[in-house]
Amino acid sequence: MAKLGPSRRLLNGPLQFERYAVYASASIERVANPMTQVLDSDLEHGFGTRAVHAGQAPDPLSGAVMTPIYQTSTYAQEGLGRHKGFEYARTRNPTRDALERNVASLEGGRHGFAFGSGLAALDAVLKLLKSGDHVVGGANMYGGSHRLMERVYTQFGLTFTFADMRDLANVTRAITPATRMIYAETPTNPNMHLTDLAALADIAQAHGLVLVVDNTFATPCLQLPLSLGADIVLHSTTKYLNGHSDMVGGLLVTSRDDLAERLGFLQNASGAVPGPMDCWLALRGTKTLELRMERHNRSAQRIAEWLEARSDITAVYYPGLPSHPQHELAKRQMKGFGGMISFDLGDVPRAKRVVEKVKLFTLAESLGGVESLIGHPASMTHASVPPALRQAMGLTDSLLRLSVGIEDVGDLIADLDQALA
Ligand SMILES: Cc1ncc(COP(=O)(O)O)c(C=O)c1O
Repeated sequence: MAKLGPSRRLLNGPLQFERYAVYASASIERVANPMTQVLDSDLEHGFGTRAVHAGQAPDPLSGAVMTPIYQTSTYAQEGLGRHKGFEYARTRNPTRDALERNVASLEGGRHGFAFGSGLAALDAVLKLLKSGDHVVGGANMYGGSHRLMERVYTQFGLTFTFADMRDLANVTRAITPATRMIYAETPTNPNMHLTDLAALADIAQAHGLVLVVDNTFATPCLQLPLSLGADIVLHSTTKYLNGHSDMVGGLLVTSRDDLAERLGFLQNASGAVPGPMDCWLALRGTKTLELRMERHNRSAQRIAEWLEARSDITAVYYPGLPSHPQHELAKRQMKGFGGMISFDLGDVPRAKRVVEKVKLFTLAESLGGVESLIGHPASMTHASVPPALRQAMGLTDSLLRLSVGIEDVGDLIADLDQALA
């Protein structure tokens, strides 16, 4: 029987360690693999190494190197109360366990919880609260997150204030005696506003608030919110973590045992869990995350510079541009500037023509895949945000958003050039 490495204990923490220990002590022998025994939390290994190995050991039954898709709803029990750690697949599934441990390791956290979508993950986060509690959220967040807060959770007695988190004085001003949580997205979808996470964590700590950070745009490859003081990191794994636009999922990571206990309970009690096939697709995606992000970063930087040099574009929003008002913060807080760009044509009919004229960029919702996408946030991803609020966010009707894929950057620029002509 392979022994658990000390660092795996460290990462998984009491809750997950227990879950893993039951699995490991099953009557099926685990195939010893010294690498996978130590990689879950071991920050001595580089990101790329953990991306490939963390949370994954060869299959105990067959030795399969790739984590199998455990497509089952239930598990045979040897006797009453005697089983291999798996009773029912809403509660646990080995493919899901592997994904949760893998992403937790990449975020430098101890506990991971996978969900059926990014919004299902946010739903679990909001269920940490109770009626009467108040949340300070970022003013410029993904429209669906805003909708879940404003249109669903207000009905259950939660209240929200949306503050422009580029200036943290706005956050401090928004905090009330009822505030329990701060919810930040950085960079924001779609205006690429940044929040200084270390300074925000200081504010959260001073007021005893839980700080939740949506790290979907940056990914752990470029930004590590837990290391800057966040309590929970949220992902839409649908995006860069999967990277191939072939599944929908969400994930939460925390290093706090108390929050992990409650999130684990909510994951099972509400049951918004992903299927094993989707977990497997996300897990395959994280293996190449670092390679893909390098390419996304490089191509997006080139395209942002090219767009900025044109005289027919009103504004380009990309944190890698020295003209971005928070470029210095981006350099301090992020290892790269990511694959998302938004730009304003200042002309609504022209913006609509451009999205219809592109040939390589696909007009579609979502982001973070290997293929380049273009979107019109006001009528697509942020259509659920009231127009007045969109205007206040700087989200105009002539704003377009690019998710820069990994195609040849010259081809992408040529495509934009003909569409803008
Ligand atoms: C930044 C961000 N967070 C959360 C979500 C929600 O994720 P999902 O679509 O997987 O529910 C999205 C979706 O676009 C997003 O862009």
